[in-house]
Amino acid sequence: MTVDNAARTRVRAELPEICEIQDQELANKVVEAWAHALAQSSFETIADIPASGNPDTPPLKTGTQTDHIRGVTRLAIAITDELGQQFQQLAVDRDLVIAAALCHDVGKPWEFDPKNQTRWSNNRIRTGWPSIRHPGYGVHICLTVGLPEEVAHVAGGHSGEGELVQRSLTNVIVHQADYAFWGVLRAGDLLNDGA
Ligand SMILES: [Fe+2]
Repeated sequence: MTVDNAARTRVRAELPEICEIQDQELANKVVEAWAHALAQSSFETIADIPASGNPDTPPLKTGTQTDHIRGVTRLAIAITDELGQQFQQLAVDRDLVIAAALCHDVGKPWEFDPKNQTRWSNNRIRTGWPSIRHPGYGVHICLTVGLPEEVAHVAGGHSGEGELVQRSLTNVIVHQADYAFWGVLRAGDLLNDGA
């Protein structure tokens, strides 16, 4: 499946926070990243991807993966704006935070794809389990479409992989927003964890 304008339009409709990015070239690359990631998967839209942090962690009781991406992005913007106002010396790039938050899970179409899950599950000794998690695949997508290394760093290190490096300021903001999203909703009993 190739990327066409219909796919790009679907991404912009699912992620209206793209309009908050002032740098239009950066905004276009965010669109390309998601359109490419989806085109290389069984999913047509972000909302088609199961609404969880990992394939084996509890999903939202109500809401979609799109709600997760948007929620994390809005939290990251709030952190940037609040602390940026309070501490004007905080060297945070708002456009970069928005792009990185929107792309932090761009590898999920690959890791969550039922075809890959089945393929890996059937031959774990050869492929590994999972073969490539969404942070690793996210780096591949970000660099393929020409997003800045700073955005690829967040895709690759927003989750556990980030414990092996020193996260950038942008990465810490997105990482905290991501963990707050799941942590707060878990505490509020909004995740379907079977409890
Ligand atoms: Fe996430």
